[in-house]
Amino acid sequence: MRTILPDDLSHRDRHQLLLSGVSPRPIAFVTSMDAQGTMNLSPFSFFMSFASKPPIVAIGPAIAAKTGRAKDTWLNILATRECTISCVSYDMVHAMNLTSAEFPSEVDEYTVSGFTKAPSSMVAPPYVAESPYSMECRLFENIELRRDIGGNGNIVLLEVVAFHVADSVFTADGKVDPRSLDLVGRMGYSHYCRTRDIFDATQPGHLPIGMDALPDHIRTSQILTGNDLAQLAYVPVLPMYDGSFPQFASDFAADSIDVELACERPLGALYVWLQRGDRKDHATLHRIAQLFIQQGKIDEAWQSLLLD
Ligand SMILES: Cc1cc2nc3c(=O)[nH]c(=O)nc-3n(C[C@H](O)[C@H](O)[C@H](O)COP(=O)(O)O)c2cc1C
Repeated sequence: MRTILPDDLSHRDRHQLLLSGVSPRPIAFVTSMDAQGTMNLSPFSFFMSFASKPPIVAIGPAIAAKTGRAKDTWLNILATRECTISCVSYDMVHAMNLTSAEFPSEVDEYTVSGFTKAPSSMVAPPYVAESPYSMECRLFENIELRRDIGGNGNIVLLEVVAFHVADSVFTADGKVDPRSLDLVGRMGYSHYCRTRDIFDATQPGHLPIGMDALPDHIRTSQILTGNDLAQLAYVPVLPMYDGSFPQFASDFAADSIDVELACERPLGALYVWLQRGDRKDHATLHRIAQLFIQQGKIDEAWQSLLLD
């Protein structure tokens, strides 16, 4: 493990180290206007939401370390107290990247990038019509970060006064589908990621037993990963072996353990494991339990492990 102190790094290396670890970050594609109405569109990945009543988001337009130049976006928001933020989907990435070049203030990046202006309802700056998710924002607070030691950062807290969300991203039950949004994240250096590799981890609605309560033969498994063990540890009480597990229909048939596991049939693998009668083969039992866990069948995973 390397321990690195911020003051031992050049500005550039510190910036990249920070951004590599605080990753992936969403991208705020910010439309702002100066007092004369000159349009500006620029991306910011120092971007996050912080509250929902009222909805507050923040962006971090820095004073450029090389030139000492303040970003037009920052100056515009301070001057007019308004902007819009459009989230960036995969289809928008490269045109978004075009707008991050240092164009002179008078250049309208909508023209350069080919994006379309959609009229806002509460603020003057438009939002990006191609984005599936945009917010109209008003300045809540600007915080300058450590100018006393030459710091170049700013946090601009913004209150969201209207959302614009594409009809196409709503599911039949009115939720926003992350796969349809297809937003991208900014990582360290010039890396980006897509948000298509989605999995669920529901927050426990009860006090879980925790890792420390797992029986030793489970906790020290050579097969089960930390994620597997944590999902077993979600349960509210330590399960007991239920004598009726497992149950097989009279015509139940299974192939070899390896085939059953490869075909994602943990019950079939368990059937063969029980037929073989080698109760000392803990490793196979743990592979079976692991497959139950991957399928979200935590009860079955516990009951399999309790056969041990
Ligand atoms: C994906 C992406 C994220 C960026 N995030 C930030 C950021 O959080 N803060 C920042 O100061 N610059 C960021 N930049 C650089 C600005 O977009 C760039 O300096 C831009 O020219 C600023 O435009 P403006 O002066 O018109 O506001 C980012 C660039 C890209 C491509």
